[in-house]
Amino acid sequence: MTTATTGSARAQGVVGTAHTRVEGRDKVTGAARYAGEIPFADLAHGWLVLSTVARGRIRTIDTGPVLALPGVLAVLHHGNAPRVETDYIGLLGMPPDPTAAVFQNDRVPHAGWPVALVVAETSEQAREAAEALVVAYDREAHDTELATGHPGAHPAGGVMPGETAKGDLAAGLAASAVVVDEEYTTPEEHHSMMEPHAATARWDGGRLEVVDSNQGTTWVQTELASMFSLDASAVRVRSEHIGGGFGSKGLRAHQVAAVMAATHLQRPVRVVMTRRQMFSLAGYRSPTVQRVRLGADADGRLRALEHRSLNQTSTVYEFVEPGAGVARVMYDAPAHRTVNEVVPLDVPSPTFMRAPGEAPGSFAIESALDELAVRCGVDPIELRLRNEPETGPVSGLPFSSRNLDACFREGARRFGWAERDPRPGVRRDGRWLLGTGTAAASFQAGAGPSTALVTAEADGTFTVRIAAADLGTGARTALTLVAADALEVTPERVRVRIGDSDFGPAMIAGGSMGTRSWAWAITAAAAELRERLALGADIPADGITVRSDTTEALGRLAQKERHSFGAQFAEVAVDTATGEVRVRRMLGIFAAGRIVNPLTARNQLVGGMIWGISMALHEEAVRDRGSGALYAPDLAGYHVATHADVGDIQADWVEDPDPDDPVGIKGVGEIGIVGAAAAVANAVRHATGVRHRHLPIRPDRVLAAGVRPAGGDADA
Ligand code: MOS
Repeated sequence: MTTATTGSARAQGVVGTAHTRVEGRDKVTGAARYAGEIPFADLAHGWLVLSTVARGRIRTIDTGPVLALPGVLAVLHHGNAPRVETDYIGLLGMPPDPTAAVFQNDRVPHAGWPVALVVAETSEQAREAAEALVVAYDREAHDTELATGHPGAHPAGGVMPGETAKGDLAAGLAASAVVVDEEYTTPEEHHSMMEPHAATARWDGGRLEVVDSNQGTTWVQTELASMFSLDASAVRVRSEHIGGGFGSKGLRAHQVAAVMAATHLQRPVRVVMTRRQMFSLAGYRSPTVQRVRLGADADGRLRALEHRSLNQTSTVYEFVEPGAGVARVMYDAPAHRTVNEVVPLDVPSPTFMRAPGEAPGSFAIESALDELAVRCGVDPIELRLRNEPETGPVSGLPFSSRNLDACFREGARRFGWAERDPRPGVRRDGRWLLGTGTAAASFQAGAGPSTALVTAEADGTFTVRIAAADLGTGARTALTLVAADALEVTPERVRVRIGDSDFGPAMIAGGSMGTRSWAWAITAAAAELRERLALGADIPADGITVRSDTTEALGRLAQKERHSFGAQFAEVAVDTATGEVRVRRMLGIFAAGRIVNPLTARNQLVGGMIWGISMALHEEAVRDRGSGALYAPDLAGYHVATHADVGDIQADWVEDPDPDDPVGIKGVGEIGIVGAAAAVANAVRHATGVRHRHLPIRPDRVLAAGVRPAGGDADA
């Protein structure tokens, strides 16, 4: 036995210093295995068959010929699949999306709905058989068109209130010297993470084991347990390396289908989504139609604000993209109204996608603020600072911290905002018109209950076990730094193991809350372990382990408005002959809590900003009215910004430690995209004199709208 020591060796912590990913070598050498490539003995492969009609019923599934094909082991469908429980409470108090509860009935609620799983000895055999499977449908007329005034539109229920209102909106608008009243739209967007969804399920000594790629092993474990009526302890979900998630990697059809097939065949079964299948099975960001009405005094002080946001959902599940939520945090007015509305259509269920609500919502309201600034003749930064609220505009609660003004001041200085000529269309570089724009950003900062296990090993090292998820964000590395500081040792002595539901319940990698939630639990366990070690405890061969649970500590937190903030700046060049928009440079300055690892935090922020460029200029999934399916659902038909689309992007931050977090963390996962598209759109208006209110700002839209150079102003 040895006695471990902590402390005194290091005076300064490592949180806040740059550290390359602890699993970086494994990833670049291929040693890190992803869910779809982990070997299993006796593995069978399932291939999902998706509906070709957008609405109707399955009449027949002709399994006979397919079962006779080489290697085919089974065809699961609504006629033979096990019934699963769907009446339970899942994540965020919501029932599961029935898209995941596959093969329960003959109804087809959208194109690309899973109707069968073909299982075979090899993936190729499964695919060939799946493509040969003949499914006959009774078609029904479908409706896939999102439009304002749709008779099915209704205020959203669920986690957030659908509507908030105070003051007299009509009177506030009537009393305003300047009014902006415009509609903004954003298209259907897809997560498009690099690694497709993949899961392998098997029964192992009476326990169900699922090797998956997900944003929370606890999440998938508890949902699968509920669905298959198992004790949670009888389900183990592992997810060690993840090639991106962005909100899409929760419980989906592939895990459930794999469990059904593994149960049916009593052997391991893997189900992987193809890129095309992901466009109907992986969730997506709903298109939005938003109306913003702003009324202000001549100096830009808001007297009235209304933000309405309409999104679509499927007919089987109500998912709300709460676009109007931004105004509940960012801007106050004596008359203030926000409404999130939703309309069920014959389309796949949308889901969380990076900054759900804030990403499209900030495009609308931050564009509208820019319009107001133009009409008032007030600088857009000054306009925002004049409208900084004292307390939460809807909640009335104090902000835990709100350093938006520091972001704007630092950003303006570094971007060179003071030299900007506010007149549109006056800067040229050859055939390019140049413009700059800005927008504000915010995203909630929170934490979810988590447990962690921290072990002092006999060899003087420490092992942290927590069911955290590293989506590629650098979470594992951040937690290594946090644990090292909490234990007062160097990071080399700390091993962090994540992605295993057997480590106990923990927050998902979601809502920008992962790192904060997990760091809190690790810090608590490490503190108690240090006390135990300080008592001079002997360390047995299997170490000394302390378990923490943050549920109570989080419950004691005072109610406050808790958010990260940011200021986005963009400079664009617009080719008036082709309609092409290039983002030449972008700067984002954020107040996002204490930054644990500047290297990976910057990656997160820059990644979000690049997605903002992509959202502003490129991304758009187009649904064919006739078939109800998407045109060209793949990465050729759906353009995501690539290197050639991206100029000089910089992200940085101001000091902003969260006063109520043990480590000072807020979270950086989502705020990078918030406001980014608006900053680009506002820059396009500054370059051309024309306001674009419909994303993406495609070349044809720029050409059709034309330009109003030399000081004019117009609407697209
Ligand atoms: Mo995020 S949309 O909470 O993964």
